[in-house]
Amino acid sequence: MAEDLTIAAGSKTEQYQTLLPQINALIHGEPNLIANMANVCAALKEQFNFFWVGFYLIEADQLVLGPFQGPVACTRISHNRGVCGTAWATKETLIVPNVNTFPGHIACSSKSQSEIVIPIIRDEQCIGVLDVDSEQLNQFDEVDAHYLQQVIDLVF
Ligand code: SME
Repeated sequence: MAEDLTIAAGSKTEQYQTLLPQINALIHGEPNLIANMANVCAALKEQFNFFWVGFYLIEADQLVLGPFQGPVACTRISHNRGVCGTAWATKETLIVPNVNTFPGHIACSSKSQSEIVIPIIRDEQCIGVLDVDSEQLNQFDEVDAHYLQQVIDLVF
């Protein structure tokens, strides 16, 4: 399928609730993971205009940059390094209201102020992360964590 997204107004919850079925339709029947990750990034960027949204996937002992939307980013992140590497190590979603106070934060862009990283867990193993960055402080909360987890569950 390739159609325009319907961009929702309203609360963050309403925006995610409008977007989720569209993401489902977008990737339904498409087995190629890269294609689906790419379209998910585009859909999230289009709806929320996030500063940066993208996937990192684990390859050997590092997170390697996957499909994303936004400015160029670091290609490789080590285990337990930065927000992404910490989410990988802890297997927990990390909501960082102010990246400047996160020890070891990896600043791919000095414009990024807050961040959410959701680990992608399959068979109890972390296989990658979904990372979203904002130019505003305090951009992300449990609503984002809840719905971005649902996005991951659609794709993986
Ligand atoms: N800030 C992340 C690095 C990835 S970029 O934000 C795209 C981190 O600390 O892991």
